[in-house]
Amino acid sequence: MADPHLWWQSGIVYQIYPRSFQDSNGDGIGDLAGITSRLDYLEWLGVDAIWISPCFKSPMKDFGYDVSDYRDIDPIFGTMADFDVLLSETHKRGLKLILDFVPNHTSDHHAWFLESRSSGDNPRRDWYIWKDPRRDGGLPNNWLANFGGNAWTFDAHTGQYYLHSFLAEQPDLNWRNPEVQQAMFDNLRFWLNKGVDGFRVDVMNAIIKHADFPDNPPNPLWKEGQHPFRRLIPDYSQDQPEVQDIVRMMRSVFDEYKDRLLIGEIYLPIERVVRYYGTNGDGAHLPFNFQLLTKPWDAQLISRTIDRYEAALPPGAWPNWVLGNHDRPRIATRVGRAQAPVAAMALLTLRGTPTLYYGDELGMEDVHIPPDKLVDPPGIEIGPEAGRDPERTPMQWDATTNAGFTGSREPWLPVAENYAHVNVEILSHDPSSILSLYRRLTDLRRAEPALSIGSYTSVPAEGAVLAYVRKHKDSRFLVALNMGSSSAELPLGEMKGNITLTTFHFREGEHVAGRLDLRPDEGVIVRLA
Ligand code: GLC
Ligand code: CA
Repeated sequence: MADPHLWWQSGIVYQIYPRSFQDSNGDGIGDLAGITSRLDYLEWLGVDAIWISPCFKSPMKDFGYDVSDYRDIDPIFGTMADFDVLLSETHKRGLKLILDFVPNHTSDHHAWFLESRSSGDNPRRDWYIWKDPRRDGGLPNNWLANFGGNAWTFDAHTGQYYLHSFLAEQPDLNWRNPEVQQAMFDNLRFWLNKGVDGFRVDVMNAIIKHADFPDNPPNPLWKEGQHPFRRLIPDYSQDQPEVQDIVRMMRSVFDEYKDRLLIGEIYLPIERVVRYYGTNGDGAHLPFNFQLLTKPWDAQLISRTIDRYEAALPPGAWPNWVLGNHDRPRIATRVGRAQAPVAAMALLTLRGTPTLYYGDELGMEDVHIPPDKLVDPPGIEIGPEAGRDPERTPMQWDATTNAGFTGSREPWLPVAENYAHVNVEILSHDPSSILSLYRRLTDLRRAEPALSIGSYTSVPAEGAVLAYVRKHKDSRFLVALNMGSSSAELPLGEMKGNITLTTFHFREGEHVAGRLDLRPDEGVIVRLA
């Protein structure tokens, strides 16, 4: 019988930050031809889909998350011809290609915004969010921009403020305007018609604001020195009930095509994230689940979080897990080098689609960026803690100059100092490396449906141990993860079997019954008899 699961349910998603993956023309910045030249690696690694952060035309104020033309490739990344080659080469290998859609805002260089700001009665005026000053001349409300400062910028030419949830160079579109909706949906269709397999939608929960633009309430927990955006609770600037209508309409665009994937970027508590699945499976296929990124690395807490997430999923909803992305500290830095393999095992054995961030398979860590090399606006405006440069450094391919990422030219962000020994070339030949572990995990996951589409049952465990069983038909696997740095044990009760895979690979084949001993920082997968 054919597997009733869709490619994005059983598959693994790999996120590429295109500036940092592979440079093909020696300008120090990664590009599409570079990605194409590394597809063999991705195939070898065993992922099923690649998601590329924005590669569209952009003044690059937010490194591509400020789009000035949704239907063209930025020259930094190459040409439309390069894109077409990337797409067909991806498909030739049986891989899928996911792009990044940025609907909340455009660049201030987008033709729509240039028209919109040209006069108060321009037909596109209402495509963005313009407000008069308050009677006292003040800002329309107290909303803050995510990257520091106010969310409003005054336009002297027309005497009004425009809203920007991020940089002033990223004006927010007015998604209550049906013309905006249709124009943006047509931009999606442009790529879907080309055969792109899906989109990750940027800040999906923020695209509709409260109709009356009330002040956001202060956050009583905020303290001086914390990220300035958190000073207010964004009650009225995001996650409004009406956003669900937009998500539903967006989904119906995807449903005009076969087998396309709609992912939403949503940082909200579990119970609010799952609303983005829609009511009858008519929302996003995968509202990103960032729990592994945001929760402390504590076995008991993670176990409760998994249960809470599983319980919150609406009927028919497919779960997903994310371990890293271009906005958050790298997993190996957050949980520590010793735990990175355990995190890998969790990501690739939990129930749901895994999303893996480029370089995490090497155990890449956040790179300290000297102040004069910082390029990310929040890092410069607010302070290095708010910046995202450390997790965006070049992919480490080999031990040659610049880790094989680019030629002799200085790369756009510094290459990690550890590249001489932490790189694809060396780690792929070391059977005990984290890269080899990732490789074995993707292999096992592909061979054993229990690990991709199987059911999830948590196994009671104490202290630093997280344990669960994945089951499909007659095959059952116990996954036991020691999330601590002391040895631990897991009582097995009636369960027994043979170790199939461990983070310390010499235990494979070992028979276990009664109890399972775990070394510090060890993860084990047992095929249950
Ligand atoms: C999302 C992106 C982030 C970007 C922001 C504004 O959070 O992941 O990188 O800066 O939206 O588009
Ligand atoms: Ca380049």
